[in-house]
Amino acid sequence: MIDKKKNTIKVGTVFSGIGAIEHALMRSRIPHDIEFAGDIDKFVKQSYFANYKIDPGRWHDDVEHFAIHEASKHYKKIDLLVGGSPCQSFSMAGKRGGLDDARGTLFYSFAKVIDEVRPKVFIYENVKGLLNHDSGKTWEVIKKVFEVDLKYKIFSKVLNAKDYGIPQSRERIFVVGFRNSKVKFEFPNPTELKKTMQEFLDDYVDEKYLLTEKGIAFVTNEIQLKKKYTQINGKIALCQKRNQQSNWHGDFIDEKYFLSKKVKQYVLSRGTKNYNAKPETDLKVARAILQTCHKMHRAGVDNYVTYKYGKIRKLTPNECLKLMGFKDFKIVVSDTQVYRQAGNSIVVNILGALLKEIKKTKVFDL
Ligand SMILES: C[S@@+](CC[C@H](N)C(=O)[O-])C[C@H]1O[C@@H](n2cnc3c(N)ncnc32)[C@H](O)[C@@H]1O
Repeated sequence: MIDKKKNTIKVGTVFSGIGAIEHALMRSRIPHDIEFAGDIDKFVKQSYFANYKIDPGRWHDDVEHFAIHEASKHYKKIDLLVGGSPCQSFSMAGKRGGLDDARGTLFYSFAKVIDEVRPKVFIYENVKGLLNHDSGKTWEVIKKVFEVDLKYKIFSKVLNAKDYGIPQSRERIFVVGFRNSKVKFEFPNPTELKKTMQEFLDDYVDEKYLLTEKGIAFVTNEIQLKKKYTQINGKIALCQKRNQQSNWHGDFIDEKYFLSKKVKQYVLSRGTKNYNAKPETDLKVARAILQTCHKMHRAGVDNYVTYKYGKIRKLTPNECLKLMGFKDFKIVVSDTQVYRQAGNSIVVNILGALLKEIKKTKVFDL
């Protein structure tokens, strides 16, 4: 008989955001219990509770309170702890470099949680820029805290989402730490990217995502297009940011191009032998609207309008979530909040690949 308890890993997250590791565990079908999670942002909490099973008593808000008062009392025997502390670095000028020198920073709170719950494994994620901050001193201190103060064996590497199946160029530093110093761990090998951003786009997009004339003039301006943070119809999305899609920087889709390609490939085909209909778009009188029209039938069945020049749009919140590796994620907050939450998150596919490698080390009782 399978020992259920033994086959379920206990997970804790801090700076949980929209639960990238929770989503990765679900998708990897790894049995797990969420022992604790938390985030200071009330909209993040709404998204989290709509998507994961967690007892409200196991949620904490401010990590600083959690680290000091809660963790040590309640949450022993955690298998996996995950957190990407917001990049609020600290200067090491004139200091020796140890846990106490990071006091007052969110990294310190993360380290304190490790110290209190002593997970078998932790994953720490941050922006790549952390490596160069303060001429590399901050990173040296972080490593020292993990290795010397907390006594974990750590492995670190910069990973890019586009090497793990997601068409988004997003580089992040990942640290995987093991309580057992004898563990041998290898980062997952990069894989060939088989999908373009176009394959992550929604078939139907509300008009509200179309840019205004001013927006179109801005993003199509040659000066903007030369900059690295704006692109139209890119194959690989730019790195998503928390303020994405609101300032005309980031990824934009020229609907004329995108839909016309789809129209050519599928919508305008006449159908098969058993089903043959004359494909026509831009009808003056619409065909009967089918309840299932979101499934995108051929143009002989559904209504299609071809877009004229000037239909450039932002990515939708759902597309941003998909480009972070979230599938079937329930959206319960405003667009602005979803853009922030997606931009702040960790790419689910990278975590899935890391979990696979961590499992190989046999540190979990799975
Ligand atoms: C870079 S994001 C990490 C997101 C997360 N890793 C995910 O998968 O979505 C940082 C998160 O930390 C949260 N945060 C910032 N300060 C905090 C604090 N003092 N206590 C708890 N959470 C905090 C923010 O609200 C934000 O959601």
